[in-house]
Amino acid sequence: MSVHLIDHPLIQHKLSIMRDKETPTSKFRQLLQEISMLMGYEVTRDFPLTYEEIETPLQKMNAPKISGKKVVVVPILRAGLGMVDGLLSLIPSARVGHIGLYRDEETCLPVFYYYKMPENKERLVILTDPMLATGGSACDAIMRLKNDGFSRIKLMCLVASPQGVKAVCEKFPDVDIYLAALDEGLNEKNYILPGLGDAGDRIFGTK
Ligand code: PRP
Ligand code: URA
Repeated sequence: MSVHLIDHPLIQHKLSIMRDKETPTSKFRQLLQEISMLMGYEVTRDFPLTYEEIETPLQKMNAPKISGKKVVVVPILRAGLGMVDGLLSLIPSARVGHIGLYRDEETCLPVFYYYKMPENKERLVILTDPMLATGGSACDAIMRLKNDGFSRIKLMCLVASPQGVKAVCEKFPDVDIYLAALDEGLNEKNYILPGLGDAGDRIFGTK
């Protein structure tokens, strides 16, 4: 298990704008896409390279290329969708799966409604969700992926609470977690503090 906090200044700056309650939906969406692309650099850092002989205009060389690593980007609906395009701009050949979950407003437990994944279970899963609050939704999604036969999973979130990170680490020590910020904690409604509010509503303008 490892937790990677990707606190590059560009990411911190963009995230601060996202957190601001005055930031409109269009800007929020654009920034989430940009941060996801920047985070993608770190999420893909351990991709293995292979060497192929090519010819530059001047001479032959053994050139490094990513060794056919197959990826599936899997957003947890809805909010995870906002992180997909940034990753696809780095990994255009990636497939996209979908897991539908929403948090029940009373219990804060995840309610499952959709699952669609490509057939090849060998693919590396990059599971995306901007918010890791109690960790219930991420753990439910990871469990479903594992039960379906996917074993290589990375979790990419924007903002996490310590409780959410602990929940995922304890249940799934083999899943690496990538974060742009580790916040202070949760309020009485299990929203992240200081957080950025309801990510899905802010991405899609539904409140
Ligand atoms: C949010 C968020 C996560 C979940 C995090 O989704 O995008 O999926 O809550 O909370 P947890 O760690 O306590 O499970 P939400 O239920 O608001 O659904 P939405 O994305 O469809 O709006
Ligand atoms: N879901 C969100 O969108 N935001 C939070 O702070 C917690 C759960």
